[in-house]
Amino acid sequence: MVRPTSFSHSLCMLAPWLIFSVRREPLEPMQHESSPRIGLSQWPTPIEPLDRLSAALGGPRISIKRDDFGSIAMGGNKLRKLEYLLADAQAKGCNVVVTSGALQSNHARLTAAAAAKLGLECHIVLIDEVPDRLAAYYNSANRLIDDLVGAEVHLVRRDDSLAEAVTHCAEQLQKLGKSPYVIPVGGSNAIGCLGYVACASEIAEQERALGKSFTHIIVVSGSGGTHAGLLAGLHLSKSTSQLIGATISRPVEKQRPVIEALVDGVTKLLDTDAAAVKSAINLDDSMYLPGYGLPNHSSLEAIALCARYEGILLDPVYTSKAMAVVISDIRAGRFSPNDELLFIHTGAPLHCSPIKRCSAELRPELFGGLNRLTSRLAKHRERATALRPAAGSLPTMYPK
Ligand SMILES: Cc1ncc(COP(=O)(O)O)c(C=O)c1O
Repeated sequence: MVRPTSFSHSLCMLAPWLIFSVRREPLEPMQHESSPRIGLSQWPTPIEPLDRLSAALGGPRISIKRDDFGSIAMGGNKLRKLEYLLADAQAKGCNVVVTSGALQSNHARLTAAAAAKLGLECHIVLIDEVPDRLAAYYNSANRLIDDLVGAEVHLVRRDDSLAEAVTHCAEQLQKLGKSPYVIPVGGSNAIGCLGYVACASEIAEQERALGKSFTHIIVVSGSGGTHAGLLAGLHLSKSTSQLIGATISRPVEKQRPVIEALVDGVTKLLDTDAAAVKSAINLDDSMYLPGYGLPNHSSLEAIALCARYEGILLDPVYTSKAMAVVISDIRAGRFSPNDELLFIHTGAPLHCSPIKRCSAELRPELFGGLNRLTSRLAKHRERATALRPAAGSLPTMYPK
């Protein structure tokens, strides 16, 4: 909903420095709005200023979009994708959801929780992907919640093929007369991207209400659906914001084709110009090393700064690396003082073991609390296992 002009006007009077490029033309309805969608959370997610962090860094103003808020299972960016994916599953008459990811997958946790909410059977195939992990990795809060919401979990060893295991799982379900709907890793396909097309139009409406435009939007670029959906959505809402995708698992040359393929898919669904959307791809791979799920000094510092200045928790796998890009770009003088940055917070830390691993490296006293939380969660997990429903008729395919 667009707020009355008088609201924007009074905001301008209060804070004229907020205004430098206000969109005044009415927003047109977008094609994604006609796609089937199931409500899984409350929208819009808030946009909040990070005043203390911005001041501490001495750079432009940073705001944060709280996509880490969500109505079910601790929220996160996957809820937006699942609203479209599960609507598609229901439209196709599927009665079982199958998805996959790394052992500590946020996507798997939210798929399992959303399936529980909709009364759908859910199978998740998880691979032990992160090297040098601690016992806490196997007992992460995400794994606890997978069990708690009643998903059937199938574990795959690191050297085995995740894709083959998923196909096998879906085939077994079909043999049992069920109708599985397979969601790719991270919910990243053309339909999943629609969730972030919707987010882009939400941001456009919030900009109108706030009376300002963000010059730069920074988001994680992982399996890519969030990044590609935002690219398409910003194009459709005629945004002037520059979107920066911070990679967390790959260098630019490997991430670009992933984003391009998703842009091809979602622009086809939306019947819009793929080439124009692709021309806005802007990836930053300066923080992804040493690799997926493994923090570095800058990402740990980003966690510490957000916690200390704003009370905001970043996760060690995704958001801390994107925030590390913001911090290093500010320090390198890549933004001008009048720029307006919007950081998309895609999910809170439910997987703390990398922080534990590196706790000696940076401010050990800061991470003591998280270490204690991780071991408390391990105890809860033991209790949750007792609550878990008896295995269904599906044969166990992988060692648990
Ligand atoms: C918290 C969080 N942020 C960002 C991402 C990356 O989003 P995408 O896979 O759409 O690139 C993920 C993916 O799992 C995530 O869990």
